[in-house]
Amino acid sequence: KKQDTKEDDEFSESLLQTLEQQTNWDGSPMVKYQGFWYLKIFFRQELASYKHFKAKDSDVILSTLPKAGTTWLKALAFSIVNRGTIYRDIDQNPLLTCNPHKLVPFLVAFKENKPNQLDKPNDPRIFATHVPFKALAYSIRESACKIIYVCRNPLDLFVSARLFLTENKLEKDHAGLLGLDESFDMACEGTHPYGPFWDHMTGYWNAHLENPRKVLFLKYEDMKEDIVFNVKKIADFLGCPFSSEEEERGMVEEISKMCSFQSLKNVDKNGYSIKGLFKNSTFFRKGEVGDWSNYLTPAMAERMKKLMEIKFQGSPGLT
Ligand code: A3P
Repeated sequence: KKQDTKEDDEFSESLLQTLEQQTNWDGSPMVKYQGFWYLKIFFRQELASYKHFKAKDSDVILSTLPKAGTTWLKALAFSIVNRGTIYRDIDQNPLLTCNPHKLVPFLVAFKENKPNQLDKPNDPRIFATHVPFKALAYSIRESACKIIYVCRNPLDLFVSARLFLTENKLEKDHAGLLGLDESFDMACEGTHPYGPFWDHMTGYWNAHLENPRKVLFLKYEDMKEDIVFNVKKIADFLGCPFSSEEEERGMVEEISKMCSFQSLKNVDKNGYSIKGLFKNSTFFRKGEVGDWSNYLTPAMAERMKKLMEIKFQGSPGLT
């Protein structure tokens, strides 16, 4: 094991020297690997999990760009999969006391032999990731495990990420912080963590088209519009559809409500998640569609619209 870690370190250190580097608008260093940008602080672990993670057929992988609704999806998948146990006694639901990031770890934090779900190391395991489809561990792509992707309007993604990173100050020295216009330029160039966003989205979209039983493709906007429908869709996809008895008992609505923005927002809001880097409360800002219009000009929106028309030309389902 020790030898493995040492080799990983050497591998990524020598690899790092060869990669294109850039600083994100908030000053955090990024490296470009196989066409995508990664935050340098997570890069080594991303590579290690790519190399070592062994997916089981029963695993569920949640995939998103940062700020696309990862926290929400974690809460939903956790509740749907574990409903048999946690909803037997609704007051014991861990979502009442735990931030979803504590219940569903990111693959980058994966450590063998460490159960990921409280005291319930049983299958199915649920993990989340931000890496593009082609950077998923081979065993994830080739096993029978299921992948759920959530896509979100890039304008809302940009605004959400901007406010999130400003709030959390990933880089302590904010001297190099770029203004809104320059940061938006970077987003439109695809220079942002796990970007370019268009390649990230089309990668999962194509994987979904190729094998819809393996990759479920959801949109944040659709989930906002009809969460009950989407909760059922996720359960069907995961092979654990709601029985008519569960539906009659109102379990779908109950899960939707338990995972709603209002319910999750106040749980453990002073705690920190993901290597202690991000304050829990910052994962719940507004939770609305189209909030970009309060921050960006119509000209910026027009620029993004044109960019999307070009980038999503071959993927009509994405526009
Ligand atoms: P806003 O900044 O637009 O409010 P992620 O979980 O991927 O980091 O994404 C965070 C975004 O999802 C934030 O968007 C946050 O408010 C929103 N969000 C978090 N929980 C949500 C929920 N239960 N329902 C809807 N949106 C949610």
